[in-house]
Amino acid sequence: MNIPELHLPTEDPDFIKNPYPTFREYREKTPIFWDEVNNLLFITRYKDVRHIQTSKSFGTTHSHIDNFESEVQSSNVPLTYVGYKRSEKYESYDYFWKSEQFSLLNLEGELHKELRGLVAKAFLPRSVQKLIPFMQKKSQELLNEKSSTEFDVLKDYAQPYSISIIGELLGVPDEDHAKFLDWSHKIVKMYDFKISNENAEDAEDAAKEFFDYAQDLLDKRRNDPKDDMITRLSQVTENDIGLTDHQIICTIILLLNAGHEATVNTIGNGLNGLLLNNKTSSEVFEEASNMTDVVEELIRWDSPLQFFQRYVLQDTEIENYNIQKGTKVAILLGSANRDPEVFEEPEKLNFNRSYKDHSSWGGGIHFCIGAHLARLELEVSFEHLLKKDLVLNMEPERTGAFGIRGYKNLLVKSR
Ligand code: HEM
Repeated sequence: MNIPELHLPTEDPDFIKNPYPTFREYREKTPIFWDEVNNLLFITRYKDVRHIQTSKSFGTTHSHIDNFESEVQSSNVPLTYVGYKRSEKYESYDYFWKSEQFSLLNLEGELHKELRGLVAKAFLPRSVQKLIPFMQKKSQELLNEKSSTEFDVLKDYAQPYSISIIGELLGVPDEDHAKFLDWSHKIVKMYDFKISNENAEDAEDAAKEFFDYAQDLLDKRRNDPKDDMITRLSQVTENDIGLTDHQIICTIILLLNAGHEATVNTIGNGLNGLLLNNKTSSEVFEEASNMTDVVEELIRWDSPLQFFQRYVLQDTEIENYNIQKGTKVAILLGSANRDPEVFEEPEKLNFNRSYKDHSSWGGGIHFCIGAHLARLELEVSFEHLLKKDLVLNMEPERTGAFGIRGYKNLLVKSR
């Protein structure tokens, strides 16, 4: 069967403002389509998105199946010290590449398994639970400062809140938070659909500074261990093998980037979702049996991450369409989360859904390793924000990016 051709207008501001009617139209038409302009195969329906997230036939890189692992093994350099194969995308960007070389997101196979196992040992639920009093204090302090005036939920609250939590977990000094927020904003632009040369150069500069900074911090913790995650990353072992400096630095950069952008945008998208749906605080507290359900439903309703790409690792089929090994597919999380086959009345916010397993945390071996932290952080945050009974002061503007979905600002005041 020929795969239908459609185009996802990721540059169109109206689509960025509200992509859901287009998702609905395309999802009803076809589970899969070829987009010539974006040069990608898109997957629209929940069932197939979840299959791709969890199936071993799909991976974030295909280098490990293209004889790469065996080439490396025969060179006598342990696989764990090599990272994934450099792709053309990174050819001109040495530091960006270096900072991504051991990013869990890009690894597959044995490499991913070994590294993720060690990182998970340093990121145990109890180290996250210990942060609850810190989260509550920080959130309250930031909101108290803004008690009567208009404020920007993103810049004045969500960003400093989220960055301070990941900083506290890792052990990054407060005075450096602004610096790594700036690096992180520049680096994540490399994950979007279209990357301008200017953005790529900024990301390269930011990656260099971030890399050097993380190395310095790691050296300090090796000399003077503390009760923080950087120290734990420097100490964890499995069969007497620990993480190298390079692996730890890539992990620090990944945790700092992944650890706040999606959380900040969930706060923005989620709060605006509540306001757009005219959900008052008392209604939410009455309707939902707990804050966990509120957070999961807000993430489903307007996902902060809209798509991920995978390579097909072995010839396969999606809904009777043949897909060849090496093909790149893009799974549309926002579309999957509004699939009526799975979520009844998907356009509605409903805090009492019986089926809650949306696609926004990923699945399979790349399932979000920070989900336990993000969930707690967001529960504390929405509990506090709802109690403030906020109203919008101005219609918020989207950032313009498709992949990382968020607002430029969200100006509110208490009712
Ligand atoms: C609402 C907040 C968040 C959302 C929606 C989210 C979503 C995701 C998704 C969808 C993936 C899988 C990516 C893929 O399939 O390629 C992922 C992976 C990951 N996330 Fe999160 N994330 C969030 C917060 C966090 C936080 C707070 C941290 C850490 C502090 C974190 C760290 C990571 C890491 C390290 C990975 C890579 C895991 C791997 O590849 O093995 N995330 N996240």
